[in-house]
Amino acid sequence: NTKGFIFDLDGVIVDTAKYHFLAWKKLANSIDVDFNKEQNEQLKGVSRVKSLEKILAWGNKSISEDEFMSLMAKKNDDYLSYINKMGEDEILPDVPKILNYLKINNQAIALGSASKNARKILEKVNLISSFQAIVDGNDVSKAKPDPEVFLIGAKLLNQKPENCVVFEDSVAGIQAANIANMISIGIGDKNVLHEADYIFKDFTEISTDFIKELVKK
Ligand code: G6P
Ligand code: MG
Repeated sequence: NTKGFIFDLDGVIVDTAKYHFLAWKKLANSIDVDFNKEQNEQLKGVSRVKSLEKILAWGNKSISEDEFMSLMAKKNDDYLSYINKMGEDEILPDVPKILNYLKINNQAIALGSASKNARKILEKVNLISSFQAIVDGNDVSKAKPDPEVFLIGAKLLNQKPENCVVFEDSVAGIQAANIANMISIGIGDKNVLHEADYIFKDFTEISTDFIKELVKK
């Protein structure tokens, strides 16, 4: 019995939201726009372009196309300065336990992320070889909640969508998994992720028995 297990990256495998926050805050403040943690929450799972559009809207700013491109590049350079310092110690608790369990039980594993920096981050935390397929922000044209990212992942794993399981920390990601007809597992707050088929605070709450049952389903 083989199923496809598709993992989101940011907020599921590593906590990069804190680095996105620092980089977006610095950028927003540089153009006299306030930026707080609550706003950062609303950028989870949201693409880089869409994130900047939201920040500009919050600050009532309108800028030229050229300036937009330059601000995006600035944000990413700053973000990468944090990413470059990442190491294995930043993998979220019990993620390796679940990945290992899936591997020894011959399950198919993919990454499905909106980030264009996904491969770099996986290399930094030494997890790149854990994934048979990687679908990231460079491979998709439609952002979550569109299911494109997960459907490409399922195809690369040679699995039917209904035989795939998605781990996600964002509402848009859970919606994408549900639209794709996959089993959705929310990682985070149950009040926020209530549309998911199953919800856990983090991977320490997920037992290998639970995974075993999913594989049998
Ligand atoms: C993930 C994160 C978002 C981020 C997006 C794009 O979905 O949750 O906060 O904006 O990826 O990331 P990137 O690394 O391409 O800027
Ligand atoms: Mg995420």
